[in-house]
Amino acid sequence: MIQSSLHIHLADKKQSEVSSGLHVAIIMDGNGRWATARGKARIFGHRAGADSVRRVVEAAPSLGITTLTLYAFSSDNWKRPTAEVTALMRLLRLYLRTETEKCIKNGVRISVIGRRDRLAPHLVAAIERTEKATAPGITLHLRIAIDYSSRDSILRAAMAATATPHLCRETFSELLTEFGHGGSPAPDVDLLIRTGGEHRLSDFLLWESAYAELFFTKRMWPDFGVDDLAAAVDEFRARERRFGAVPTAMVV
Ligand code: IPE
Ligand code: IPE
Ligand code: MG
Repeated sequence: MIQSSLHIHLADKKQSEVSSGLHVAIIMDGNGRWATARGKARIFGHRAGADSVRRVVEAAPSLGITTLTLYAFSSDNWKRPTAEVTALMRLLRLYLRTETEKCIKNGVRISVIGRRDRLAPHLVAAIERTEKATAPGITLHLRIAIDYSSRDSILRAAMAATATPHLCRETFSELLTEFGHGGSPAPDVDLLIRTGGEHRLSDFLLWESAYAELFFTKRMWPDFGVDDLAAAVDEFRARERRFGAVPTAMVV
């Protein structure tokens, strides 16, 4: 027990040492429409979407990304037909089973954010196995959001905050990680990408994206490739982030 918490502590420390890279978050949207346009069932699009995840995870470190948060299943996605939900859950478990070894080899640390109490026990077990096995990875922190709702996370953190004196933004961020959605600490989002053509956040990382640069693309998620990710990062690097201040050159 002590050994495993020490293990996690060291992994956190190592993670913070590499956290100077980019935190990119992606709302992976458009799987269903991609499949429908091909006359196939929606799940066909979700399967193709899993291949996009593999490509993006593999390419992320070479683009300077050290934290990647992927929106895989929102708390509102429970409203979908049971067959689609079941298929999505099966795909998530399959992803963890097939990718864990590769992630260990490539230094990718996986953590899952979101509620776990509504997930099937075998999925929770797979998540825990993967998180433990990939914990030492320091090349990339891959966070997968499953049964995730940003507003619910903020609410849970707010409830924990009532017992916290001298609350500040940093402390609230810590509460959000610990009580809101689990997982380990991650920096604020630098670049938020949404595929599939919609221009909305759909309850994703609302607190963490306060100053994120937003990038929307019409590309459906199964068609999103390494070149698209590189183009989004290039555009991000060309933007000027001001955080409410005035650019140095304009100060008179
Ligand atoms: C995103 O694709 C994946 C999940 C929400 C699980 P969608 O399934 O929302 O695809 P569209 O938006 O219907 O095309
Ligand atoms: C957001 O996509 C959730 C995920 C990508 C997992 P949705 O397709 O569920 O979002 P809305 O319903 O179009 O806002
Ligand atoms: Mg959608």
